[in-house]
Amino acid sequence: MSGKMRLFISGIMLLALSTLSTPALADSAKGKALVNDYCTACHAQGENGKLARISDVRKTPEGWEMTIFRMQHLHGLEVDGDERLALIKYLSAEYGLAPSEAAPFRYVLEQRSYFVDHAPNDDLDALCGRCHTNARYGLQRRTEQDWLKHMHFHVGQFPSLEYQARSRDRFWWKEVTTKTYKELGQLYPLQTPEWDKWKASEANDPTGQWRVVGHRPGLGGYEGTMTISRDGDYFKATYNLQDLNGSPLSGDSKAVIYTGYEWRGSGLLNDTETREVYAISEDGRRITGRWYESAHYDIGGEFQAVLIEGAEAQVLLKSSDYIRIGNSKEITFHGVGLTGKVSTNKGLDINVIAQNDTSVTVKITAAKNMSPGAYKVTVGQAVAEIIVYDHINSVQVSPAWTIARLGGGHTPPVTAQFEAVAYMKGKDGDVKIGIMPAQWQALAFNEEAEHMKDVDFAGQLNQQGQFMPASAGPNPKRKYATNNAGNLKIVALIKEDGKEITGKAQLIVTVQRWNKPPIR
Ligand code: HEC
Ligand code: HEC
Repeated sequence: MSGKMRLFISGIMLLALSTLSTPALADSAKGKALVNDYCTACHAQGENGKLARISDVRKTPEGWEMTIFRMQHLHGLEVDGDERLALIKYLSAEYGLAPSEAAPFRYVLEQRSYFVDHAPNDDLDALCGRCHTNARYGLQRRTEQDWLKHMHFHVGQFPSLEYQARSRDRFWWKEVTTKTYKELGQLYPLQTPEWDKWKASEANDPTGQWRVVGHRPGLGGYEGTMTISRDGDYFKATYNLQDLNGSPLSGDSKAVIYTGYEWRGSGLLNDTETREVYAISEDGRRITGRWYESAHYDIGGEFQAVLIEGAEAQVLLKSSDYIRIGNSKEITFHGVGLTGKVSTNKGLDINVIAQNDTSVTVKITAAKNMSPGAYKVTVGQAVAEIIVYDHINSVQVSPAWTIARLGGGHTPPVTAQFEAVAYMKGKDGDVKIGIMPAQWQALAFNEEAEHMKDVDFAGQLNQQGQFMPASAGPNPKRKYATNNAGNLKIVALIKEDGKEITGKAQLIVTVQRWNKPPIR
């Protein structure tokens, strides 16, 4: 055999070996063996190799985590932490959701303290959404027959369910076992083209350099880069970020990627322990989601990353969204591929101060005679929009209604974060200008709150719009020695030319949450 031939053959063998020992395949074999060891005792295997119940459902990693927790807690399954991880990895690869199936309900996976839960219709909202989020079932797929079994499970597990669920306005059991299960089978069926396609596709490789931008509510934007590398069965992300004032925000994290796109990481950012819930896009070029402090799920940041290699020119973040007519201001655009020529619509005057591949800083002047509206700024192929405004017409506090929770014992408080969003008059109603700094004040929401002195007891609102609840009671200093709960009016005040414009929100400060399932 010639030397060349030998090299060629050993090359093939190396390739074959390395394919066999990729973590994905090793995991899959391990996971399958664990399912055989642990689940088949109770879940019979049919002739087609399918396991009763298990093969009839699809869920997110968090969904599988909850099911396995129940198998342990109620049915006596015994697995250790490593085995549980391997099981969840295997089950969410075999019986998971396609990225597009999980997309509408990511808010609940991302552990947001504020979100608006979506129900397909009012009926389902009343039948299911009174006890848990509608996202909990929106993130599952089952055969029609398994949805029916799941209805039986609810009453079998919680015999008093119909009374607990404020459901006496309807015949819950009759409705869900004659109609609703069929509707769920139509809305959320086991077999979908999306899942078939996703399951058959090659896994994306996320290793490489990523451009990162994000927003921390109350604190503002941040930007920088992230490097993803492999670390055995895990992935490692190293962050080199900074906020828009230039203060560093750096650290790293270790993550598992479930179902080929569900990134779940834990790490440190500026020495604070964090958790990451991200989704990698189907083409593998973008990662979006949210990170939060492991001790405070309510505090964290929006996150977006773009794979730098081969990326199209794009602006991902602006240091400001707006400029007032007659003013000059420095604005930095952060993104990728930003070396092109900077230009704009007529009216705005732009001077480039600094420019490189990832950022462009310009001095923008909005002429006195220009009309308010959205103006395009282009950097080569990348396009961004700047709002030019004359007067603030109204201020809206976002969110307009939310809750915070008292802390106490081992349960940390759950804060509420508000932002003041300014609007200008437009032809068809108010047009958003953007988030602005404001003066913040908490007032009693109504007479009862006034009477109970809720403002004094419920907690503190700081000048970044963050409400920090007090400790739970009972509080002997309060009337009836009651809890430190409260009903507050949150006011944001913005001054313009000596005029005061205010926006309002309502905040209910309520008691602790004791039960914290991965999917609320
Ligand atoms: C000791 C018996 C037992 C073992 C072991 C067991 N299960 Fe179960 N499983 C049950 C019972 C009983 C039910 C029906 C009641 C329920 O849903 O809690 C069930 C239901 C389920 C369901 C359907 C429920 C739903 O709502 O999605 C899934 C999926 C499931 N099990 C997965 C597993 C997996 C995966 C394993 C192995 C890691 C496992 N089970 C091990 C007893 C068991
Ligand atoms: C009375 C309250 C109540 C109502 C009403 C209710 N659920 Fe649930 N549901 C629960 C509880 C409690 C659990 C947690 C069970 C566990 O995992 O221990 C749960 C769990 C679930 C799960 C996750 C369980 C798993 O293992 O996969 C799904 C999916 C679900 N419910 C769907 C529904 C749907 C669909 C409806 C409406 C037709 C509904 N629920 C109505 C209380 C309720």
